[in-house]
Amino acid sequence: MSDVAKQNAAAEALKLVEPGMVLGLGTGSTAAIFVRLLAEKVKAGLDVVGTPTSEATDRLARSLGVRIVDPGELSGIDLTIDGADEFDPQLNLIKGGGAALLREKIIADASARMVVIADAGKEVRQLGRFPLPVEVNPFAAELTRREVLAHLEYVGLGGIEASWRMATGEAMLRTDGGHLILDLKCNAIPDVEALGAVLDRIPGVVEHGLFIGMAERVIVGEEAGARVIVRPGD
Ligand code: A5P
Repeated sequence: MSDVAKQNAAAEALKLVEPGMVLGLGTGSTAAIFVRLLAEKVKAGLDVVGTPTSEATDRLARSLGVRIVDPGELSGIDLTIDGADEFDPQLNLIKGGGAALLREKIIADASARMVVIADAGKEVRQLGRFPLPVEVNPFAAELTRREVLAHLEYVGLGGIEASWRMATGEAMLRTDGGHLILDLKCNAIPDVEALGAVLDRIPGVVEHGLFIGMAERVIVGEEAGARVIVRPGD
């Protein structure tokens, strides 16, 4: 996605922001552009409060003068603007390419509205080309990995590859919460609800990157502007 397209998606999302709102601030390069545009409005006098989905977004927003509140102190979030790695026609998402999926899902779930900003390359008929990130507790992580692989058989995903995400060098990547990320190379996910339900039942799985029925719209950034896709039935 070019920076112009990202900028256009973020600018369109900014139109949804109203004075007095509590905003969930997403993670990733597109969400970062949104935070920058929001900060310009804040400088110009817009009164909003942000709550971040990652340490990186927390630092960025604070450095730009956006007022940040710990999500634990909030009774609700009006609107969350976040990126995505893939979205399908039902606006189900794969998220977690930036390893922030747990905090992103906590914030999205607590939000009255979740709006995604993404480029057209992330639009797919069926989720799964992007490896599905699964956040795993480091305790007995290999055992959890084997459990995940065994359970995938039940949802038509037997024999797929599952690899630990690495940081630089030989160390495994750690999320903001100190967990590991297991990337599932599904290629195509035949039934997102079934896969989500199976992963939810494995104790060592902290969270997975399937966001089902959470996004109310996706703003698709293009070179010349932005296209809005509203969730079918809304
Ligand atoms: C972070 O964990 C992800 O869910 C991001 O929102 C996603 O990877 C999109 O990032 P970009 O806007 O950088 O593509």
